[in-house]
Amino acid sequence: MATPLLEVNGIEVIYNHVILVLKGVSLQVPEGRIVALLGGNGAGKTTTLRAVSNLLAGERGEVTKGSITLRGERIEKLTTADMVERGVIQVMEGRHCFGHLTIEENLLTGAYTRKDGKAAIQATLEKVYAYFPRLKTRRHSQAAYTSGGEQQMCAIGRALMANPKMVLLDEPSMGLAPQIVEEVFEIVKDLNTKEGTTFLLAEQNTHMALRYADYGYILENGRVVMDGEARALAENEDVKEFYLGMGGGDRKSFRDVKSYKRRKRWLA
Ligand SMILES: Nc1ncnc2c1ncn2[C@@H]1O[C@H](COP(=O)(O)OP(=O)(O)OP(=O)(O)O)[C@@H](O)[C@H]1O
Ligand SMILES: [Mg+2]
Repeated sequence: MATPLLEVNGIEVIYNHVILVLKGVSLQVPEGRIVALLGGNGAGKTTTLRAVSNLLAGERGEVTKGSITLRGERIEKLTTADMVERGVIQVMEGRHCFGHLTIEENLLTGAYTRKDGKAAIQATLEKVYAYFPRLKTRRHSQAAYTSGGEQQMCAIGRALMANPKMVLLDEPSMGLAPQIVEEVFEIVKDLNTKEGTTFLLAEQNTHMALRYADYGYILENGRVVMDGEARALAENEDVKEFYLGMGGGDRKSFRDVKSYKRRKRWLA
C-alpha cells in the first residue's frame, strides 16, 4: 500500500503538563482525499489538527507519545512555519480574518511565505476568486463588515494563497446557515477534485461532513471510537443514532452503550 500523505500514530497530547486530552489517536490521510474528523464538543478534534500543524506549543500543549509523519517524514518537532513550507496549513476554528483589512488584503497575507514573485501570487489570487466568486465581489470590503459565510470563505481563501497540498479545516460550518455551509463544502469538494488539495476536516456537523468526505474518524473523549468510509459511516446505525439525530433514545454517546454490544454491532 502507498504511504499516506499524513499518518498519525497513537499520539497522546497533554496541555499544561497535566491535562491529558488525546489518549492514543491514530489516523491516516491519503493524498488527494477528504478525511473527516468527527465528534462532539471537547472530543479532541481541534487538538488533533493542532498537533499535525504544530500549533500546540502556543496553547501550552505537547505531543508526549506516538508519532506524526508527513510523506514518511517525522514532523512532531517541526514548527508551524516548517509545516507551511511543506504545504500543510490550518484554517482555524472561528474564521480568523483581520477585521480591519479588506478581503483582498486578507487573502494576500496568506501569500507571505511565498518566494515565487508577484505574478505567481496574482495568478493564485485570481484562482481563489474563481473558486469563491463572492470574495471577488467583496474584494474591497473591510472583512469586519462581511457576512460569516464570506469570512469563512476568506479564511479558506487565505490558506489557499500559500499554495497548500493539504488543508486542515477546523469546523468550517460553525455558525453558518445550512445553505452557506453547503456552498462552502461544495467549494472544498471542487478544490479537492480540480486542484487535488487534500483536506483533513474537523466537524461537529456529521451529516454535512459525511456527505463530502471520503473517509471519517469519530473521536470521543480523546480516542477514535470508530472509523470507516464516509458512506458506510452515514449508514451505520450507531452513527445515525448518536451523531445524525435519527435515534429516538436518550443516549448521547457511544460510551453509553455497553462495549460488547458496540463491538458486536460494529463487526456485524
Ligand atoms: N489550550 C488548552 N488548554 C487546556 N485544555 C485545553 C486546551 N484546548 C483544549 N483543551 C481541552 O481539550 C479537550 C479537547 O478540546 P478540543 O478543542 O480539541 O475539542 P474539539 O473536539 O475541537 O471540540 P469543539 O467541537 O468544541 O471545538 C477539551 O476538554 C478542552 O477543554
Ligand atoms: Mg474544536
